[in-house]
Amino acid sequence: MSSTFRFPRFISFEGIDGAGKSSHIDSVQEWLVQQHLQVLKTREPGGTELAEVLREWVLNRSMDTLTEALLVFAARRDHLVKVILPALGQGQTVLCDRFTDATFAYQGYGRGFDLHVLRTLESWVQSVELNDGQPLIQPDLTFWFDIAPELAAERLAKARVADRFESESTIFFEKVRQGYADRAKQEPDRFLRIDSSQSFEQVRADVLKQLEFVWNRER
Ligand code: TYD
Repeated sequence: MSSTFRFPRFISFEGIDGAGKSSHIDSVQEWLVQQHLQVLKTREPGGTELAEVLREWVLNRSMDTLTEALLVFAARRDHLVKVILPALGQGQTVLCDRFTDATFAYQGYGRGFDLHVLRTLESWVQSVELNDGQPLIQPDLTFWFDIAPELAAERLAKARVADRFESESTIFFEKVRQGYADRAKQEPDRFLRIDSSQSFEQVRADVLKQLEFVWNRER
């Protein structure tokens, strides 16, 4: 491995509910561990004791959208300070099941909440007193598991009891999907779109192919 190896260290995974991202995160972790990287797998909202409590509330209690946005950002701040930044500082690769793109997609596009307010919260939470004047902390790479809401809903229906987000309508998830599409368009170098309507095996193969491509590109 060359000294200029710049393989992304902070990788997030996104998509609407039912897109099936979670098991593919395990495949990415396995692959990176085989390349001898130290990998930390975590999730949002969550990843710390406090953030997991906030997750429980956000997923299961009713609240207005600003409250919801404040809670996911509070969880994110705690997660960044206590887990993500220390791990990156120790040279680990962080795999995060959702990050701020989810807030823009769900609270912004899905709920229709003011994107300017979200941008302000993002800039506070992901920079204030954190990174010695560097720009906003955000993932280096984002896998976006893209799928039509109707198909995602079919998959979800088979899976489990729905939480507050999972029980939303197809129209809501169309908006969330559009949120991801717009984010991906704004930052094409960061986003890797995966066609999640394919079979599980095909999605897995695509994820690993893209990962290997990035790995070889950065060597
Ligand atoms: P999810 O990541 O799908 O976890 P699981 O697979 O265990 O259900 O669930 C997290 C939910 O939280 C998901 O519905 C999206 C929502 N969410 C937001 O609305 N905003 C956010 O900023 C984040 C991180 C998640």
